[in-house]
Amino acid sequence: MEKLWGGRFQKQTHQLVDEYTASIAFDQELALVDLAGSQAHVKMLTAKGIVTAEEGQTLLEGLWELERRAKAGELTFDVAHEDIHMNLEHQLTQLVGPVGGKLHTARSRNDQVALDMHLYTREAVDQVMTKIRSVQQVLVNLAETHRNTVLPGYTHLQRAQPVSLAHHWLAYAWMLQRDWQRFRDSRSRVNLCPLGAGALAGTSFPIDRQQVAAELGFDGVYANSMDAVSDRDFVVEFLANASLLIMHISRLSEELVLWSSEEYKFIELDDAFSTGSSIMPQKKNPDVAELLRGKTGRVYGHLMGILTVLKGLPMTYNKDMQEDKEGLFDTVKTLLGALDLLAPMMESITVHASTMEKAVQKDFACAVDLADYLVRKGMPFREAHGVVGRIVFHCIEQGVYMPDVLLQQYQEFSSLFAEDLYDVIQPRAAVKNRSSQGSTGSAAMEEQLQAIKAALQES
Ligand code: ARG
Repeated sequence: MEKLWGGRFQKQTHQLVDEYTASIAFDQELALVDLAGSQAHVKMLTAKGIVTAEEGQTLLEGLWELERRAKAGELTFDVAHEDIHMNLEHQLTQLVGPVGGKLHTARSRNDQVALDMHLYTREAVDQVMTKIRSVQQVLVNLAETHRNTVLPGYTHLQRAQPVSLAHHWLAYAWMLQRDWQRFRDSRSRVNLCPLGAGALAGTSFPIDRQQVAAELGFDGVYANSMDAVSDRDFVVEFLANASLLIMHISRLSEELVLWSSEEYKFIELDDAFSTGSSIMPQKKNPDVAELLRGKTGRVYGHLMGILTVLKGLPMTYNKDMQEDKEGLFDTVKTLLGALDLLAPMMESITVHASTMEKAVQKDFACAVDLADYLVRKGMPFREAHGVVGRIVFHCIEQGVYMPDVLLQQYQEFSSLFAEDLYDVIQPRAAVKNRSSQGSTGSAAMEEQLQAIKAALQES
């Protein structure tokens, strides 16, 4: 078959080369954005008199028909036409005749593919942002429900200080807020139009880049045509933001896995989001949470992949850049799938509040509160730390917890102890009384809830 670029060649390509260089197997994902770009291009060519009104109309009608077919899943592609751009141009020409050949006036596949990638990534950014919001909303709802549920907060995976479950859930909501902001901030760099850069140097046709950019909803155009066709920073940035997001999802998932184990039993995942074992009839496995955790591997891999592809490339377009697509497409699917599952899975969790409460009772989670008690009575903190450390050691030796120790015994450790010490070593009281901004205390928590709700209204 004669290639669109066949004129300069004396020989057919080797049979393996077509397959090897073709991207149609995966870049057909870009069909709709490619058609949108071509439609905007044709409107501009017509407005500037580069094609006649009649030619423009014919081309547009052809492109609309291809769009209809693409949406109906009726398009078929041929590896002989290498990529989505040449497949669609070929089909347009089949449809409207030789005038189809005018579509590519004042355009190159280099600025065309860059345009497609920008449009695709912009759509992905918008979808991811919307879905992050859904998960955040679930976390905020859970926080409101669990204002008064107390559990141990951990450092080093050792029980540290009691916190409210609301505080714990909101920590994730804030992580996701940073993710959301990172995607939003990236949008200004994604939303730049490269079309009109031509192959690399621009064109001598009197095109109007601003018109195309406005038609496609871009905020502006690339200032340098060489930069326009060689830039894939926005793909790297998307994958970097995706890596942070999936890392956060993975950390949350890890906690769901831990917490649903018999050892913790803090939560139970709904049957609808769990799976069974082919051999052990009793098993209920957190497969979804585990997979969400496991999906980090491929996303990080794609980030490393694109960074490595771009690292040694000289100006401007190089065929290596065709390798920008599969990792991006896979990442978008991975993120959307993960966020779609996370929201209903979180929503359907059963919280075992009494197990959490037991865990803070049978614990030394209020040791800091006891030390702070002594500090309030005038003892330097470092000294108070030592006194309470010795009390904890005493408890461990005796097999008791702090509320079980008699006042008399406390007074052997320090004469500053009085009856009111028992009030501060109640986990519930400890949580309630935290008063610093951003703490787990009741008043601070109300403030935090208002703040996250306001943040969710940000645009
Ligand atoms: N399929 C190519 C890609 O994805 C399109 C651009 C090809 N340009 C070229 N000059 N060969 O990068």
